[in-house]
Amino acid sequence: MREPTRALRQEQTLQAPGDVRLARLTPVDEIDIKSAQVGLIGVGNMGQALLVALLKAGADASKINFAVRRSERNHEIEERYGIKAASVEEMAASSDVLMIIVKPQDLESIMERVAPSLKPGSLVISFLAGKKIATVEAGLGNPAVARVMPNTPTLLGVGMSIVSYGKAVRPDQRRYVSDFLAAAGKSIEVAEELQDAATATSGSGPAYFFAFVEAMVAGAVTMGIDEATATTLVIQTIVGAAKMLDETGKSATTLRENVTSPKGVTYEGLKVFGEGDLAGLVARAMKAAADRSRDLA
Ligand SMILES: NC(=O)c1ccc[n+]([C@@H]2O[C@H](COP(=O)([O-])OP(=O)(O)OC[C@H]3O[C@@H](n4cnc5c(N)ncnc54)[C@H](OP(=O)(O)O)[C@@H]3O)[C@@H](O)[C@H]2O)c1
Repeated sequence: MREPTRALRQEQTLQAPGDVRLARLTPVDEIDIKSAQVGLIGVGNMGQALLVALLKAGADASKINFAVRRSERNHEIEERYGIKAASVEEMAASSDVLMIIVKPQDLESIMERVAPSLKPGSLVISFLAGKKIATVEAGLGNPAVARVMPNTPTLLGVGMSIVSYGKAVRPDQRRYVSDFLAAAGKSIEVAEELQDAATATSGSGPAYFFAFVEAMVAGAVTMGIDEATATTLVIQTIVGAAKMLDETGKSATTLRENVTSPKGVTYEGLKVFGEGDLAGLVARAMKAAADRSRDLA
């Protein structure tokens, strides 16, 4: 295991004679996946997917605590993942990394409980749709804050996460976030102003593709194929198309053009998409999702 290294943290600014401000620097331990004490607030759908990723990344289960709202779930989570339940207040005081994975409307009440005891130098990771870094910083006394928007394929380790960092986040804390998210799939850092647009892209994206699959299955059924067969045809088609996009290095445009000969079968199908302004419809849907994400701030 890597030896813990030290970083300097500005703990306090002292007023000196002559109005010169001196920073008193104290050492804090750098964190990494194996050594960090972690607190998870919320272990629902997304919380469980992230917990699985954290364990896969190499975190020590004995260093992870969690809190959920319904105490009857504690035993089930403890049994399944080998981690221990604790109070929000205890985790705030002891965690190097505090992950908030509750619904956006629960953030205020959680911050009121976390703020009084938050461990100095800790990293807070918010996974809440729409909530700004500045809101979490202001609610918790300006700690280091990372804002992450994952998506549901995180459940299978093939998620896409978007991450933005507050000013106080240290390099070792950034490394922690990217090591952790690598076990959940891919991650990309974006400027926070782009979080709503990116949420409307990869956060909501799986549901768009699910809706497209539903529409294609319905289209096949209308033409006389039974639903089970139609579902197999469509799912294997989307899986194959996704694999081609991921593995051939060719763009979506090239791959589409490769299977579209003028006046051919696919050409006729795609022509109807064009006439119905598929691109405009998708752009409007994504804008509506981004606007909603902005509303949640
Ligand atoms: N699901 C997605 O596709 C997705 C994608 C990207 C981001 N997100 C974000 O992830 C967050 C969580 O979503 P989710 O789908 O995982 O929700 P969820 O399944 O409803 O889980 C919420 C979790 O928070 C816990 N909780 C609520 N209030 C609490 C409190 N006061 N103290 C401790 N724990 C509390 C709940 O406890 P109980 O288990 O006892 O109910 C539950 O474990 C949301 O902010 C969402 O924006 C979700």
